[in-house]
Amino acid sequence: MAECYGFGKVILFGEHFVVYGLPAIASAVGDKTIAKIEKSDKYELVDNRPATEGYKVKKKGEIKRSMKLILDFMKIDIEKNPVKITLSGNLFCTSGIGASAAMATSIARAFSDYFNLNLNDEQINRISYEGEKGSAGTPSGIDNTCATFGGLLWFEKNLQGGENKIELLEIKQPIEIVLGNTGLSSVTSEVVADMKKAKEADPEKYDKIFKEYERLVKEARGSLESYDLEKIGKLMDENHRLLKEMNLSCKEAEKIISIAKENGALGAKITGTGRGGYVITLTPGEELQEKMAKAIESAGFMAIKSKIGV
Ligand code: MEV
Repeated sequence: MAECYGFGKVILFGEHFVVYGLPAIASAVGDKTIAKIEKSDKYELVDNRPATEGYKVKKKGEIKRSMKLILDFMKIDIEKNPVKITLSGNLFCTSGIGASAAMATSIARAFSDYFNLNLNDEQINRISYEGEKGSAGTPSGIDNTCATFGGLLWFEKNLQGGENKIELLEIKQPIEIVLGNTGLSSVTSEVVADMKKAKEADPEKYDKIFKEYERLVKEARGSLESYDLEKIGKLMDENHRLLKEMNLSCKEAEKIISIAKENGALGAKITGTGRGGYVITLTPGEELQEKMAKAIESAGFMAIKSKIGV
C-alpha cells in the first residue's frame, strides 16, 4: 500500500497569461489531495475528495484522460498490475484551486512508492504535468509545479519546450487569504482554448492587455519581496480588471469581490481558470481573515481560510 499527497494552489498573478510565456506568481495552499494505492483484483478509482456539487460529473472525462496519460507516461500496465486508487484529502475541489494537478501529483507519488521507483520531485512534477494535459489541454505547468514543490513561486513557461523558470519567492511572513467559492466549475481546457480564439480574433486588444500585465507582474514581485501589502492588493485588483476584460469573470465572482471590498480586503480577483471556481481575497491578519470568511459565507458562498507564502 502507498499513500501520498499533492498540494492545492492559488494563482496570485497571471492565470492565462502564463500559458503564453509571461511570468506568473502562485502559491501552494496547505490543503492537499491524498492518493492511496493498494493491490486489487481489478483497476478501480474511488474518488472521495470533497467537491463542489457537479464538479466530479463535469470532470469525469478529464480524470479518465489524466489517468491514461499518467499510466502511459509511467509505463504502468494497469491490466497486469491491477490496483485500487482512492482519492481523499481536505482540498475542496472546484476549478481554480489546482485540484487536477494535486490529484496527478498525489497519484504519481503514490505509484512511485507502490512500485518502489524512487522518483525525485522533478520526475514527479514531469508526470504530473503529463496528467495536467488531460484537464488543461495545453497546460503552462504552473499548477503541477505548485502541487509538487509547494511554496510561493515565480513561474515562467519555456515556450521552446526547455526547462521552465521556477524561482522560490521568500516573503517576510505568510499572508492570510480567504478563498470564496462561486459554486461553479469551469473546464480549463475549454476556457484556455476559448482564450486562444479570442486572442487570435482581436490581437490588438490582447497585445495591450498582455503588455499591461507584464508591467504589473514585475511590480507585483517587487511588492511581495518588500512586503508592501497595500500594493500587492492594488495589483491584484488590477490583474482582475484585465481578466474581466478578457471575459474570464462571472456574476458570482463579481458578487464575492464586492463583498470582499466592502469588508476591507486589500485586493480580490478570480484565481485559476475563471468563469467560476474560486475568488482569492487578500486579508492580512487573522481578524480580517475571519471577518471576510463570515461575510462571504453569510452571502451564501463557501469560504476557505488559508495563507500564501507558508
Ligand atoms: C489554471 O489553474 C491556470 C491556467 O493559466 C492554465 C494553465 O496555466 O495551465 C488557466
